[in-house]
Amino acid sequence: MSKKNFYITTAIDYPNGAPHMGHAYEKIITDAYARWARSSGLETYFLTGTDENGQKLAKSAEELNVPTRKFVDDNAEIFKKLCSELKISNDDFIRTTESRHSKVVGEFWRKLEKNGDVYFDRYSGLYCLACETFYTETQASDRLCPEHKTKLELLEEEGYFFKMSKYEKWIKEFLTGNPAFVAPSEARNEIVSRLNSEPLKDLSISRPNKGWGIPVPGNDKFVVYTWFDALINYYSAVVGTSHENYWPADLHVIGKDIGWFHTVIWPIMLHALGIPTPAQVYIHGMVLSEDGRKMSKSLGNGVDPFDVLKTYPLDSFRYFMLRSIPSGGNGRFSMKDLNQRHVSELGNDFGNLLMRIVKLARKRLGDQVAPVNLVANTNVNFDFEKVHLEMDRLMSAREHNRALDVLWSDLNKVNAYVNASTPWAIKDGDPQFQAVVHQTLQALYCASILLAPFMPHTSAEALRSLGFKDEDFSKINRKNVSSLTFQLSDPPVLFPRVA
Ligand code: MSP
Repeated sequence: MSKKNFYITTAIDYPNGAPHMGHAYEKIITDAYARWARSSGLETYFLTGTDENGQKLAKSAEELNVPTRKFVDDNAEIFKKLCSELKISNDDFIRTTESRHSKVVGEFWRKLEKNGDVYFDRYSGLYCLACETFYTETQASDRLCPEHKTKLELLEEEGYFFKMSKYEKWIKEFLTGNPAFVAPSEARNEIVSRLNSEPLKDLSISRPNKGWGIPVPGNDKFVVYTWFDALINYYSAVVGTSHENYWPADLHVIGKDIGWFHTVIWPIMLHALGIPTPAQVYIHGMVLSEDGRKMSKSLGNGVDPFDVLKTYPLDSFRYFMLRSIPSGGNGRFSMKDLNQRHVSELGNDFGNLLMRIVKLARKRLGDQVAPVNLVANTNVNFDFEKVHLEMDRLMSAREHNRALDVLWSDLNKVNAYVNASTPWAIKDGDPQFQAVVHQTLQALYCASILLAPFMPHTSAEALRSLGFKDEDFSKINRKNVSSLTFQLSDPPVLFPRVA
């Protein structure tokens, strides 16, 4: 039976400091996809969380002279606070130090072992602690981490291995046979070409136990390699619970730096146990700082998302992140650009349009605007039923920034329509006035519904000022919209100027 619901996840973040802009970005875009799915009528489950078992967390805590447990607890709270301040609609927040997770990790390990996919051996390799990743000589011929440009550490350890190499043929066929598994296609091509350029190696899946991490079942001299445990979070959050029917996941939203783990290692882990694989991994680009470098904790060039929220309304921030960074590419964050979009696209194109038409209508017609049996005499060149379909197509293609482009292009048409129809100049008593106003309110009603996944507060306030609440996409149809009676009240100033 095909699955009718929608399970969407973000990566789980390392809480070894406060969250940065990259974390905020990923949560905002994933939230837009989750809300889009809900408004489309899909039963949706949205998971986010923190990845807490890594060695680097223990090391950071030690450096600060704080017990690791306290360090991780305190930071995980800040990630939760970020979700709440960004109005992220997650249904669950998983922490990998929770027993519901470690229990499933243990079972997963045992089953792989039983299948003969786990063995004990020695390993020598180049390791980056910030990435918690081994790099091959091909990836790091200069012995520097490709992500952080820091010196890689030569680790020589004994431990457990997962027989990934056994699945090389399978994963190649899987990726070729499921072109939609990785979006965008450029990201998929990169993964496939890496797979074709070097043999798939077995994966070292344990580390010596230094007192932090999930002990390897049956041998507590070792802990489970943090990536191996972290990936399982998507599964452990739902398996054995009332949400089990959400598996397999429909969409994992992750950044470019961790594509390999999600598109090669994770499907192999699941396939090895006969567990159905997720439908898609969407790989977004990186938020860059103004100087064009990736923002990251280790580079120390992060902008604090909480600081942005102290200055700008949440929805201006959400809008900026969703519209100005291309969905599969990198994009820079700057307060100057944010301010520009806040003033012109949000304040002028949307906020002012809503404000002036509602005020004008209330002044001339009172609070209620019923439909009139008359077609407005100016060319109406927007069609929000079509806009909805086009946006839906783009959201399915994981091109949320282009979906917003489409919406804004039609909002501009509504602005042009109002300017061309000059309703303020239509004489009192002429039914054309009500026809133009109703037509404009219809457009604002549809646009507000379509805005909800991206800017939930703005959408709710705009709909409230038109006399509605909690509308979903099913309401965007000509028959419904043309017969609406609007019950108007003044909207608040949604995008106040920032000094
Ligand atoms: N803990 C791992 C993920 C495990 S998922 C089973 C991890 N954590 S992270 O905190 O480093 O990154 C979390 C997410 O944020 C990743 O998807 C990562 O790509 C993303 N970003 C980190 N820095 C980023 C930017 N500067 N820009 C956009 N996203 C970035 O990796």
